[in-house]
Amino acid sequence: MILGLLLASTTVQPVTLVYAGDRLGKVEPCGCPKNPMGHIARQVAYLNEKRAKNPNIITFDLGNYFFESLVIEKVLREQHARRAAILSRSLHKLKFDFMVPGPTDFAAGFAGYKRLIKDTKIPVLAADLKTPSGEPAFASHKIFTRNEKRILVIGIAGFVPADTRLTREAPLDTIRRVRAEVGPVDITIVASHLDRTAGLGIGENEPNLAAVLIADKHLHLIPKQAGGAVVVGSSKEGKHVAELQLNHRGPGAYAGGMTMRRLEFKLRKASGVEAEAIQTELNQLKAGNTFSYRIDALGEERSEEKEVANWVKAYVHFVGKLELERGEAPPGYNGEGDFAGVDACATCHPTIVDTWRATRHAIAYQSLYARGQHLDRECIGCHTAGWRHSGGFSDPRAVGILKNVQCESCHGPGKEHAKTGDKRLIDRGQANAEFCQSCHQKELETGFKEETYIPLIRHW
Ligand code: HEC
Ligand code: HEC
Ligand code: HEC
Ligand code: HEC
Repeated sequence: MILGLLLASTTVQPVTLVYAGDRLGKVEPCGCPKNPMGHIARQVAYLNEKRAKNPNIITFDLGNYFFESLVIEKVLREQHARRAAILSRSLHKLKFDFMVPGPTDFAAGFAGYKRLIKDTKIPVLAADLKTPSGEPAFASHKIFTRNEKRILVIGIAGFVPADTRLTREAPLDTIRRVRAEVGPVDITIVASHLDRTAGLGIGENEPNLAAVLIADKHLHLIPKQAGGAVVVGSSKEGKHVAELQLNHRGPGAYAGGMTMRRLEFKLRKASGVEAEAIQTELNQLKAGNTFSYRIDALGEERSEEKEVANWVKAYVHFVGKLELERGEAPPGYNGEGDFAGVDACATCHPTIVDTWRATRHAIAYQSLYARGQHLDRECIGCHTAGWRHSGGFSDPRAVGILKNVQCESCHGPGKEHAKTGDKRLIDRGQANAEFCQSCHQKELETGFKEETYIPLIRHW
């Protein structure tokens, strides 16, 4: 007991891991949320500041860094490739200690992935991937020395890159093989693009792991514990950076997170013998290995690394130019399809049109224009009417009278209805979250709430 208390009071220098995953090809946030989080230039500035304070941090990425999806629509390929190129150049400044690949990183093929990482000197760790002849496809692990401790990081992809003849070994077999090859170390970490179930399975089945880091296009912001290991991921689209600190005192499980917080909470409520028991338990946990986890949001208040920010500005310009140069511009939409445009509705619904004009829906296109992104195919769908509808428009230059979130964005094409006023020919729509969230997607994190948003646009 006395020994336990003594140990508890000795502080150890933590090993600090700073990482993200599932950037999904995003270079900047779309501008839709109130506090748009992300931006590759913020991540660069953030890591620079972190390293200035503590040069000992270990930084990395868990994959799906370069692309949003494995298959990219042809018309978007050039702009996605341009973003991947910016992300590739940014790696020189992010200076990760290593990277783990994710499935979408191979959208431009295996050779394409190799090109994107070629000059960066950042090792790719994927111990489970092998060539058809059984050779390792990538490096398998890295050993760091921090605060006099040897730290083994084993990279696990957990998938076979598309269109390759690579094969993969089961994660547990891989981990055991690498550990046997490397021999004893103080701390072992698995950095993977595995999902939570697989991550928890590894923690439960392999002893003496400190952490299993996961990424599977979902948020994993709450550390779980499996066996003695912490199983946790990070956010996505570059919105946050995760920081996991490991306080290593010897072999054994890592305590922290909810387990610790729950006990501390109970202690505050408890008294007498019960309080003593909780205190003892807490002391014991604190005398062993512990961890702490946090995420930092990359919101607008963060600084941006200037050069990378300029690359992103140039990208926005590039997309506009790309569209302008796509052959001869088609004429602007002027009512020749199934959509009538808001002015046609005004004849019979003048009051509703006035109400609408006072909403932000009526300036949605202006918002894109102000950012020079009104030609970006990845933006205009939610900021106009009739985009890619057979009776609407499908070239960003041809938006014509369908700018902004108009009546027909919600009620569907209304030309036939506008001719006669026959209400069977128009969609009434539904005033509920599910309907609105076709655009106000949860992913955008805009603070959309039925109770507050519907009254702001109600015209019925
Ligand atoms: C010629 C006049 C006229 C024009 C133009 C017109 N409407 Fe209507 N609209 C009507 C009438 C009449 C009704 C039925 C009102 C009632 O039954 O209370 C109606 C009803 C609607 C309804 C409700 C349908 C329902 O099922 O309850 C919607 C939505 C609507 N209009 C949208 C539009 C839109 C969008 C436009 C422009 C594209 C438009 N209207 C243009 C006359 C018109
Ligand atoms: C076609 C896509 C689309 C649909 C469908 C849509 N919205 Fe919007 N909404 C937008 C866009 C884009 C903006 C932002 C316009 C701007 O500020 O540039 C917006 C803005 C708003 C705002 C203004 C928020 C603010 O901060 O002032 C409200 C309120 C709103 N929408 C409510 C709704 C409701 C309620 C529904 C469902 C009945 C809905 N929207 C459906 C695209 C849509
Ligand atoms: C999935 C639909 C969707 C897409 C795609 C989309 N937006 Fe939006 N955007 C919205 C919605 C919804 C809002 C309103 C958010 C709110 O206020 O609640 C919005 C708001 C905005 C605003 C106004 C923010 C403000 O409060 O002033 C800007 C600027 C904007 N979007 C830019 C973009 C850009 C640039 C892109 C492409 C990179 C894009 N949007 C793509 C749905 C979308
Ligand atoms: C953001 C989506 C959205 C936009 C934009 C929008 N509406 Fe609506 N509209 C709705 C919804 C939702 C309802 C009602 C659904 C219900 O019955 O609860 C509605 C109802 C109506 C009705 C029926 C009113 C009544 O009292 O029965 C008419 C008419 C109408 N809209 C016309 C228009 C016109 C004209 C415009 C453009 C100026 C427009 N709407 C723009 C979503 C929208």
